[in-house]
Amino acid sequence: MSEPQVITDENVAQAVDAALAAIGAANDSAELRAARTAHTGEASPLARLNGALRSVPNDQKAALGKLVGQARGRVTQALAAREGEVLIAEETARLAAESIDVTAVPTRWRGGARHPISLLMDKMSDIFIGMGWEVAEGPELENEWFNFDAMNFDEDHPARAMQDTFFVEPVDSHLVLRTHTSPVQIRSLLGRELPVYVVAPGRVFRTDELDATHTPVFSQLEAIAIDKGLTMAHLRGTLEHLARSLFGEGAQIRLRPNFFPFTEPSAEMDVWQPNAKGGARWVEWGGCGMVNANVLRAAGIDPDVYQGFAFGVGIERTLQFRNDMNDMRDMVEGDIRFSQQFGMVV
Ligand code: DAH
Repeated sequence: MSEPQVITDENVAQAVDAALAAIGAANDSAELRAARTAHTGEASPLARLNGALRSVPNDQKAALGKLVGQARGRVTQALAAREGEVLIAEETARLAAESIDVTAVPTRWRGGARHPISLLMDKMSDIFIGMGWEVAEGPELENEWFNFDAMNFDEDHPARAMQDTFFVEPVDSHLVLRTHTSPVQIRSLLGRELPVYVVAPGRVFRTDELDATHTPVFSQLEAIAIDKGLTMAHLRGTLEHLARSLFGEGAQIRLRPNFFPFTEPSAEMDVWQPNAKGGARWVEWGGCGMVNANVLRAAGIDPDVYQGFAFGVGIERTLQFRNDMNDMRDMVEGDIRFSQQFGMVV
């Protein structure tokens, strides 16, 4: 307990003045709390003056009691008044700090998105996963043997020149940028037990100039199925399922005889696109056939026991006519305004 003070007009006035000054100077509720403790708390001059009332002579008790009581009353009132002001000021400041300008121009956050070619590759792979097939990959920098020899291209077969190849130096490394995804056929057969049902999406390279219909880097989806008793009917059924999954129930497949060294018989494959923008139409889609016995032999498989089919389709071409796009350059130039039109789903 602090020492009681002597109750005089002067002491009381001093205590009140000091309290009112501190209360008036308090600018927020923390400062006001400090002023309240200092000027009305147990150790404050007013509390000590109040305490001193106990020891004043009885005949002065009423007058001095009134003096001190009024002083405390003034301070309590001043505190309450200032508290109201401080709360309003604090509330106003908080609202100002939290206000937002609903007319401000937003800075838009642009999320990344996958390229439509990657999305379509995944979508096509998923169709095969749904049939229980595996997805495989092969290297883009490929041995000439896998790209050509194992695929039954003769040493000086014109078909080797048909595909304009990027050869990689030194020439005796026998490395090429793969011209098609077909070498993954052999790689898949070498690395697996039979039967084999594999699709291989990936990037391929040819020495073409970039124009509306060509690009030196593009993508294909390769498929190979090797099992006992597979026929062209299985090939056709598989292609039809792929076509319907991508182009709708009305899609159909048409095969036209053709030549590929790695299939016999071979066919060029067209798809009937029922929902094409300018009206239903046939479009050339890819190549296919029954895997050539020489390819099976290159993979150490007895063609008298196992047979199978293979096909390859261009992903850019698929995107082009599925989504009605005219210029191949849009797909490779990497302008995000192109990808944005597709969002995350092709
Ligand atoms: N590799 C061929 C090309 O790039 C496409 C192809 C044709 C793939 C026939 C095949 C096939 O699997 O059987 O032109």
